Amino acid sequence: MKFRTRAIHVGSEPDPATGAVVTPIHLATTFIQPAAGTWGQFDYSRSGTPTRSAVEKTLASLEGAAGSLAFSSGMAATHCASMLLKSGEHVVAGCDIYGGTFRLLHKICNRAGVTVTLAPADDVSQISAAIQDNTKMVWIESIGNPLMTIPDIPAIAKIAHERGALLGVDSTFAPPCMLRPLELGADIVMHSATKYLGGHSDCLAGVLSCRDASLHKELYFVQNATGAVLGSLESFLLQRGLKTLELRMREQSKTALEIAKWLEQHPRVTRVLYPGLPSHTNHQRAKQFMGDQFGAMISFEIDGDFQRTKLVCQSTKLFGLAVSLGAVESLIEQPASMSHASYDAQAKAKFGITDSLIRISIGLEDPSDLIADLDAAISI
Ligand SMILES: Cc1ncc(COP(=O)(O)O)c(C=O)c1O
Repeated sequence: MKFRTRAIHVGSEPDPATGAVVTPIHLATTFIQPAAGTWGQFDYSRSGTPTRSAVEKTLASLEGAAGSLAFSSGMAATHCASMLLKSGEHVVAGCDIYGGTFRLLHKICNRAGVTVTLAPADDVSQISAAIQDNTKMVWIESIGNPLMTIPDIPAIAKIAHERGALLGVDSTFAPPCMLRPLELGADIVMHSATKYLGGHSDCLAGVLSCRDASLHKELYFVQNATGAVLGSLESFLLQRGLKTLELRMREQSKTALEIAKWLEQHPRVTRVLYPGLPSHTNHQRAKQFMGDQFGAMISFEIDGDFQRTKLVCQSTKLFGLAVSLGAVESLIEQPASMSHASYDAQAKAKFGITDSLIRISIGLEDPSDLIADLDAAISI
């Protein structure tokens, strides 16, 4: 079955008890056992529920994974992956990773004796140089945040594996209808399902999917032992979102390309970062891995200082001034004061997060309305 069909039918089989065509929201926290010491399919809801299992089945099918695990947030999923590491071990992470992942690695994982080195994810030689004898994981994003860099996943997977490390890919910006990192050699793919997978800004969720069944089992052990699982209501919402993922993504990517091209010729825009534009440094690589869909996130710089950039972000009427991304409504933000505010000045300069940088998440509105809204704000 093709992606769209699997999104609707795998994991969403009619309920055998009632014939309901959507998975029921099971709220039970405990399940009657067949006999003392004999376990049924479900026993206690931290270990699994029918609703969570259903969405995990859909996710694994869409990602081409041996198994998927649903978490209470994207950070809970990333944290679970990081718990594979032991004291004295080392992670190499991409420079432009999500701010929350940067914080997790530097302020939480360090407490467990795990060290981190950052390297530009789109430069295989620098990633390779950062790998040490004790490196056990390389963690990158399939589209970097907020500079939209595209790493060479197969090359990084090869190097990581040669050096005995796992490759984890946060593919939040590129959902599985666009890119499947496991097929490119990654061991773990992570999603903040709060974004495109859920798609409607109403469900905080995270996902880990693994190529290998034994790694899935190990991560399941950590998830069950630590407990940051996805609740049944959110599992239901996530599964509903997945049914329209491919359609939403195709339309949002198309609008994003149109807006990126329009921004590129705007007199007050000095730089546009979108992997679908031939001017983007990683455009060829994006085409190689993503085909003709490049996602719906665009970053651009305007000819203004911190204050003017802030004013532009505050002046749109349709684009909501908010962090997060990936839903049907378009959003705008200033990374320097919002998503990447936790970076110090030195880190901002190093990673290209300038005061005039704006990041937009393109939703499902009509492209002409979005362009008119941006034009009015940028021209202010
Ligand atoms: C790329 C990326 N990874 C991880 C996360 C964390 O996900 P969550 O907010 O669902 O915990 C986010 C959230 O914005 C993100 O953008």
